[in-house]
Amino acid sequence: MIMLTEKQTPAIIDLPKYLDNRGNLSYIEEDTHLSFRIRRVYWIYDVPGGESRGGHAFKSTEELIVALSGSFDVVLNDGEKEYRFSLNRSYYGLYVPSMMWRLIENFSTNSLALVIASTDYSINEYIRDFNEFCRIKKNEKVGI
Ligand code: TYD
Repeated sequence: MIMLTEKQTPAIIDLPKYLDNRGNLSYIEEDTHLSFRIRRVYWIYDVPGGESRGGHAFKSTEELIVALSGSFDVVLNDGEKEYRFSLNRSYYGLYVPSMMWRLIENFSTNSLALVIASTDYSINEYIRDFNEFCRIKKNEKVGI
C-alpha cells in the first residue's frame, strides 16, 4: 500500500500494524511510507510533566513523527492556519513538511517521540522567531 503524502501538507500516515498475541509490530519503509530520504533519526524522551519541545520551524527539513510510547500533541502552524494532531498510537506517523512552525506538548508520562528527518542536524535549518517565520511565509506566497 503506497502512503506517500502530498508535499507541504501535514498528514497522519496509518502505518502497517501486525496485531499478535505475542505483541504487536509496526514498521516504516522509506520507499513506501516516506516522501523523503532518511538522513537522521532522533527521539525525545523523559519529558517532565507540563514541558513542551520545539517552538521553531525548519527551512528545508521534512519529518515523520511517531509516538512510539504514550501520547503527545503536535501543534503545527503554516503562518495562516493551525493544525493540532494528537499522536497516541505507535502505528500513526505524522508527516511534517518543511517551513511549518511546530510545537510538541501534552507529553504523557513515559512518552517517547521518534522523529525521522530528511536532513542532518544543522543549526542553520532553524527559524526560532515566529514573527520572522510568518514574514518569510508571507513573502513566499507573494513570490518575493
Ligand atoms: P532542539 O531541536 O533545539 O530541541 P527542541 O526544539 O525540541 O527544543 O535540540 C536541542 C539540542 O539538541 C540542540 O541544541 C542541539 C541538539 N541536537 C542535535 O545535536 N542533533 C539533533 O538531531 C537534534 C534534533 C538536536
